[in-house]
Amino acid sequence: MSQVYIQDFKDHAGEEVTVKGWLHNRRSKGKLHFLILRDGSGFAQAIVSKKEVAEEVFEACGALGQESAVVVTGLVNADDRAPGGYELHVKDLQVLQVVHDYPITKQSYDQTGPGPDFLLERRHLWLRSKRQHAILRVRNRIIKAIRDFFDDRDFVNVDAPIFTPAACEGTTTLFPVKYFDGEAYLTQSGQLYMEAACQAHGRVFCFGPTFRAEKSKTRRHLTEFWMVEPEVAYASLDDMMVLAQEFIQHIVRQVLDRCAVELETLGRDTAPLKAVLDPFLRISYDDAIARLNEEGQSIEWGEDFGAPHETAIGAWSPTPVIVHRWPKHIKAFYMAPDPEDDRLVLAMDVIAPEGKGEIIGGAERAHSLEYLEEQIAKHDLPKDAFEWYLDLRRFGGVQTAGFGLGLERTVSWLAGVDHVRECIPFPRTIYRIYP
Ligand code: 4AD
Ligand code: MG
Repeated sequence: MSQVYIQDFKDHAGEEVTVKGWLHNRRSKGKLHFLILRDGSGFAQAIVSKKEVAEEVFEACGALGQESAVVVTGLVNADDRAPGGYELHVKDLQVLQVVHDYPITKQSYDQTGPGPDFLLERRHLWLRSKRQHAILRVRNRIIKAIRDFFDDRDFVNVDAPIFTPAACEGTTTLFPVKYFDGEAYLTQSGQLYMEAACQAHGRVFCFGPTFRAEKSKTRRHLTEFWMVEPEVAYASLDDMMVLAQEFIQHIVRQVLDRCAVELETLGRDTAPLKAVLDPFLRISYDDAIARLNEEGQSIEWGEDFGAPHETAIGAWSPTPVIVHRWPKHIKAFYMAPDPEDDRLVLAMDVIAPEGKGEIIGGAERAHSLEYLEEQIAKHDLPKDAFEWYLDLRRFGGVQTAGFGLGLERTVSWLAGVDHVRECIPFPRTIYRIYP
């Protein structure tokens, strides 16, 4: 009897199959046991009837606790009332391990229960829950959508290093690591390396873990998160606004098409996601500041947006909102100055709807050697560590542009999950590096 995955039950209706998995839940009533099995691919109900299985199998089922490991053989039966549309009529069941007192119970999720730390401390087990299972499947789909989007457009995937000699996004969030007799930093962004790579390959992207020593305790900050960063030679800020919109729309379409089961498990209303397929609202930073003040949010020109501002901006359109042309002094050293207003740089942030905040940061890059040398000095960055980067301007330096999209914030938005710590398998925050 060959193993069949629960997600493929639809192709095996009426057949006898074997499922290898774990017991998620059990209800027993007289001569019946109702087992909810999970096998990694999904969840399904298995019905054990006293008259259809050997005596000892029926007895064994009655003693199974949550997360017991079982191999179950039975008949796949289509039933509209069954969750997922199919259930298994058990003929035989082999117990590999009987488990009792699995630490995560229904109460673990209650408002009055032990709280999020209890679950985070048991993240290695919590991953098995229906909701966490669904979230990581959405994440998986988003990762595939990201790779396919760039691959279909002939971008070359170039990996950026994790150990780096210097800051990319400001010195305050660097993670120093001992590096033999010296010091290195965990990467804050692969961008500078993508600028080098796009001068070799034209259109490139990197996709990997990124580190920020963020002291923020918000729902949007991790110390280790994943970022995808495209970079295009000869491209402008406008080109990036177009690319970012097409990119996000592609991801959303894939999630809508391929994650229906997961979105339902998560109770995600899909109407706001469908609205994202319209053109994105674009607004300059200047206009955004004016509009925020009109709405009674007091924020001065030159300030960065806080979470409440981003939430307000996100409500201006059912689509993400692209805020472009930012004050120079609140952005990174590498951004191109706006030729029409020297207070500004050609940067953009893409702000997600539904209060999810910034998901993309990007810019056109400064290509003047002199300007960059000046900015490196102004930002107090060690020039030595940037000599290689300055070479890119010395040898065939042209305008390039790119952006970075945060994976966990995107998952949190699309899956409708409040906190990014549920959007990565093993979250790292200021408070947590276990398990
Ligand atoms: O806006 P950021 O800092 O941009 C860059 O790093 C650029 N170098 C990217 C580029 O142009 N190639 O970060 C980009 C995105 C943010 O919009 C956010 O989605 C995510 O990375 N991000 C975080 N996600 C989770 N936790 C954190 N601490 C994050 N910091 C940034
Ligand atoms: Mg940013």
